[in-house]
Amino acid sequence: MSEADRASCPYPAGAAETVHQLDADFTQNPFPELERLLEAGPVHRVRLPNGVERWLITRYDEVMAALADPRLSNELGRGLQQVLPPEPLPPRWQVTLRTSKLLGRAMANLDPPDHDRLRKLVVRAFSAKRIEGMRPRIQEITDELFDALDGRAEFDLVEAVSNQLPITVICELLGVSAADADLFRTAASVLGGMQADDEAARRTIEALDAFDTYVRGLVVARRAAPGPDLFSELTKVSADGQSLTDDELVSMAGLLLFGGYETSAQLISSAVLSLLREPEQLALVRADPALLPDVVDEVMRHEGPVNPGLNRYALEDIEIGGVTIPQGSYVVLGVATANRDPRHWPDPDRFDVTRAATAKQLGFGYGLHYCIGARLAQLEVEITLGTALRRYPKLRLAVPADQLSWRAGSVRGVRELPLRVD
Ligand code: HEM
Repeated sequence: MSEADRASCPYPAGAAETVHQLDADFTQNPFPELERLLEAGPVHRVRLPNGVERWLITRYDEVMAALADPRLSNELGRGLQQVLPPEPLPPRWQVTLRTSKLLGRAMANLDPPDHDRLRKLVVRAFSAKRIEGMRPRIQEITDELFDALDGRAEFDLVEAVSNQLPITVICELLGVSAADADLFRTAASVLGGMQADDEAARRTIEALDAFDTYVRGLVVARRAAPGPDLFSELTKVSADGQSLTDDELVSMAGLLLFGGYETSAQLISSAVLSLLREPEQLALVRADPALLPDVVDEVMRHEGPVNPGLNRYALEDIEIGGVTIPQGSYVVLGVATANRDPRHWPDPDRFDVTRAATAKQLGFGYGLHYCIGARLAQLEVEITLGTALRRYPKLRLAVPADQLSWRAGSVRGVRELPLRVD
């Protein structure tokens, strides 16, 4: 940002009294606005496209510090009662309450010690060795999805592959049959989306109720007849006598589904899109497929699904970058801005698969709550991308990149990704 730009900048540093509106243009392309906020200061007040106001932390160092700060709680439900409007609750608020009930006992929404107890019970299932062991099956599912497209010169990657692979993997991990996967898919997509109107909010509640009932049935079935799946393992009492309550099991299933489906699906599409809109980078990867893991890290940094960031609740007054965030505030830790902070990344807007230290990107979080599914997500993207490049030497976008429509909500990604392969 030049001095002239800085002088005319509408966001003076530390101007916490100003609320910056992030509107529909922001959904389509958040980066110009995020860059302005990043340059103007480390802390701002923003109104997100869905209308809610939040504090936003922008810069890499401050976001890292905030991710490790125990005064910023993951228990977002703590502040809910104070902000609820009077009865009767509008449908969108009913969704917030229903979601909070469904996911309230999930580790991502808990602080220590509850968080640590739950994480310990599930983290083993996501060991690097176990995830690597899933490689042949993930490759097989991917091949089947692409086989089904044989003979087609054009297809939508989102519908044909991105939305299919992660849900199939999570359902197999949890021991949910293919026939029931649709119920999971519906619950996950409504949870990740925005409730545009009352009708959408009602449909969301219905989908969450159906998911809740289904998982409680699964708990009963797996306790009676355990299988080799992760969910059967979780329903058992562990060696040190710890066990999960039914509510915790429902929250755990919801978290694995919500945390692992929409995010991975969007990352698959964003990875393919990122390469197809940068022919030089695409050529590098075609020439050296060993670059694929670096591609995934760079996509996470440059165009990761978590945008603008991760939610926290301030347990006390907290001073960040000279601004005091009052106790009881909701704060967004700007992972997307941190990942493009020029203080940390040279030429941050450039997508560059040869960039050093991209593993330090914050798209999977950091510290206590670091994503337990990160390796699984990376593997899914590596396999999908590798398979698509091998199968289709002429792979390209079927529409110009600037005509793609991006979905609203907390998980960023394109609605459709039309590709041509002939
Ligand atoms: C591209 C795909 C993914 C992205 C971008 C992503 C992102 C994240 C982030 C940013 C966090 C930290 C949340 C916080 O600090 O509040 C997180 C936590 C978590 N993720 Fe992922 N995730 C992805 C895939 C997955 C997958 C595939 C699974 C499992 C099937 C998963 C399960 C979890 C769980 C259980 C947590 C909570 C960890 C804790 O609270 O200790 N994620 N994820």
